[in-house]
Amino acid sequence: MSAAAALAALRGVVADPVFAALKALVIETTGMAFYADKDEELARILWTRMEETGIARCAGYLGLLRDPVAGIAEMEALVAELTIGETYFFRHKEQFDALRSTVLDDVIERNQTIRRLRIWSAGCATGPEPYSLAILLKREFGARIAGWQVSIVATDINQKFLARAREGRYDDWAFRSVPDEIRHTCFDQVGRQWFIRPEYKRLVTFHYHNLITGPIPSPADNIAAFDIIVCRNVVIYFSAAAIQGLIPRFRDCLAEGGWLIMGHAEPSPDLFRNFRAVNLPGAVLYQKREPAPAAPVAPLPLPVRPAPVRGHVPRRPPPAAPPQPAVPVPPTGAALERVRTLADGGDWDEAAKACDHLLAENALDAGLHFLRGLILEQMGALDESEKALRRAIYLDRQRVLPHYHLGLFLWRREDALGAARSFRNVLGLLERYPDDHAFGEGDGITAGQLREVVTVHLGLIGGV
Ligand SMILES: C[S@@+](CC[C@H](N)C(=O)[O-])C[C@H]1O[C@@H](n2cnc3c(N)ncnc32)[C@H](O)[C@@H]1O
Repeated sequence: MSAAAALAALRGVVADPVFAALKALVIETTGMAFYADKDEELARILWTRMEETGIARCAGYLGLLRDPVAGIAEMEALVAELTIGETYFFRHKEQFDALRSTVLDDVIERNQTIRRLRIWSAGCATGPEPYSLAILLKREFGARIAGWQVSIVATDINQKFLARAREGRYDDWAFRSVPDEIRHTCFDQVGRQWFIRPEYKRLVTFHYHNLITGPIPSPADNIAAFDIIVCRNVVIYFSAAAIQGLIPRFRDCLAEGGWLIMGHAEPSPDLFRNFRAVNLPGAVLYQKREPAPAAPVAPLPLPVRPAPVRGHVPRRPPPAAPPQPAVPVPPTGAALERVRTLADGGDWDEAAKACDHLLAENALDAGLHFLRGLILEQMGALDESEKALRRAIYLDRQRVLPHYHLGLFLWRREDALGAARSFRNVLGLLERYPDDHAFGEGDGITAGQLREVVTVHLGLIGGV
């Protein structure tokens, strides 16, 4: 088929009156709101499947998907085309460092009596994430968990990915951020391929599970009572509502004191209010809080502990046209660290006070205003938070993260136009950064990650 004919066919799919219903079914089934404004991309995938199944019109294809028997296999084939499976071993090293330094130590200590460890890799794609966990566990904690019952449950919606994961065969590209030593000691080489060794493979079980439509928790599917849930680079494709629905269900799947580790793209820190947020270099982790101690009378509601704020190290001198005629004095590292520690511990009132104290001396420090904006947001002082973020931008337009957070803020306020503007500013500013540039005041997020996340946000916001 010529390129012109192919384009005409795609346009035909988009113009088909049943296309909207197909799109709705796709988003409803997978959660991938990402496709809401990607008609041509979706049409291309649908069209490929329609050709394959010999169906000419969207109505016929919708009928097939809804068929109680044939529809299951066809939905599976469609999902295999829709999902994005980018993954590699030890992706986001800082999160593995956090697992090593804090999380595994904590759960191993906690589970000494039951001698059991359960981890869920939700949205595991072709397997590098759960296998990286198995390698980390066995190589570095093997002696402490010898004889324990260890399971890493890895799930995904894409059956093709799962089949590849079970095979455990990878090419060089999957090891792009892994020292050679790991590849050579944990994998067997066959030609140009690498097979995960049985001692790591046997720790992981793979099975199908849909995070949107599947039950969570689901003891029948072995989805319950986890010590650690890792769900990274999955929800960035979901709508805010889908994410809001998912986080509390993840919490229900965690043992008390269990940990949730997600990517960088959670649109709202408020989502994690029922977790204790723990900031480590380049990673934010969420720990299920211990239940309140038993009380003889009905306990008062506990204050909500919101998600963390990453501190920052102000680096730039203020711009030439300050709003106040103060001479800036850079805040001392110790004072700043104190604000950060208070914020990380969820002590927002004290963090805000300490931040204001620093600002009294450093009124023109964009980074401090940014930090204050994040703290105020956590306190629910939304108007003040917005002002602080805008002030940070006013003082230093080149600083990337205040634009990003203002974008998230406006998006949550359903100001799609304003949010899209902020996100586009972020993309513009990111042009000057290489992918691996890490933003110190942004929890170590890299320019590449931020670019990916903001592009997805813009996609979700749609064509404004
Ligand atoms: C980009 S990959 C992330 C893989 C891995 N977590 C990582 O960070 O390297 C996203 C994965 O989420 C899966 N996924 C998307 N929607 C899903 C859903 N509704 N339920 C379960 N998995 C889903 C995709 O099939 C894909 O394998």
